[in-house]
Amino acid sequence: MTARKLDGTALAKTLRAEAAAEVEKIIAAGGRRPGLDVVLVGENSASAVYVASKDRACEEAGFRSAIHREPAGMSTRDLLALVEKLNANPEVDGILVQLPLPEQVDADQVLEAIDPAKDVDGFHAINAGALAQGRPRLVPCTPAGIIELLRREEIPMVGARAVVMGRSLIVGRPMALLLIGEHATVTVVHSRTRDLPEVCREADILVAAIGRPAMVTDRFVKPGATVIDVGIHRVTDPDQARDYFGAESRRFARMSENGSTLVGDVHPRLVAPVAGALTPVPGGVGPLTVAMLLKNTLAAYRARCSQGAVS
Ligand code: GUN
Repeated sequence: MTARKLDGTALAKTLRAEAAAEVEKIIAAGGRRPGLDVVLVGENSASAVYVASKDRACEEAGFRSAIHREPAGMSTRDLLALVEKLNANPEVDGILVQLPLPEQVDADQVLEAIDPAKDVDGFHAINAGALAQGRPRLVPCTPAGIIELLRREEIPMVGARAVVMGRSLIVGRPMALLLIGEHATVTVVHSRTRDLPEVCREADILVAAIGRPAMVTDRFVKPGATVIDVGIHRVTDPDQARDYFGAESRRFARMSENGSTLVGDVHPRLVAPVAGALTPVPGGVGPLTVAMLLKNTLAAYRARCSQGAVS
């Protein structure tokens, strides 16, 4: 068996087109343009790439988009002042503070300062609490994108065994709660779980969000399972790339030309023959995160408009 590829890029394109069509309708009806403000503190190169792709997606879909580039040495107080300014601005529907923040910044305090109605990351305790209580409002983009992918690919979730690897605020915890909401039977595993491969091998749906390159091998995967790879890691060692992709693969050949390639938390060469369906890296979960950010910004816009906050 070779796993069916779950094409996140294609679905993201559809979701972005849906968002663009909705913005067009709003504008045609004389409405205000939805707006997203992203805060980027410091010089983290991966964050800069993510933020640029969010900005591009917003513009393509017709959103007003602004990036606030702040110095790496910024204090918590100054960042809180910026968040307060964005909270108070009626043109701002969504606020996203890109993580990770520099060490001197109290990230928890900053995330809790964002108006929950504008919290398009869904990280605020109010939104996380609503999700935990089964009344989701703004939901973190990566797990929301994964649910959308599973739905549209018609992967059965009701009654399925799902194993979520990782318990982060951004992916693992909200992913588990969303899968419970879809009536899956959910297990969350992490670095201290005993018999990790055996537990993962129970899964019909395995979500790998552990942040370790290619850690999930065939030992972790039940034949035919759906495997969702949330990881993204740069590989520069040719021996590693040969192991991950195979010496004959196009990926290995291209890596030899470019000097680097990407791998997820899942070992593609070992898992593809066992899994029933698998998200590629890149082109799986990553593009969905950006697309869901647009959807969340529209949801925040609609909710704020209907509460009379703005028109
Ligand atoms: N850093 C990595 N992923 C994310 C995300 O989804 N939101 C924010 N704010 N920062 C991130």
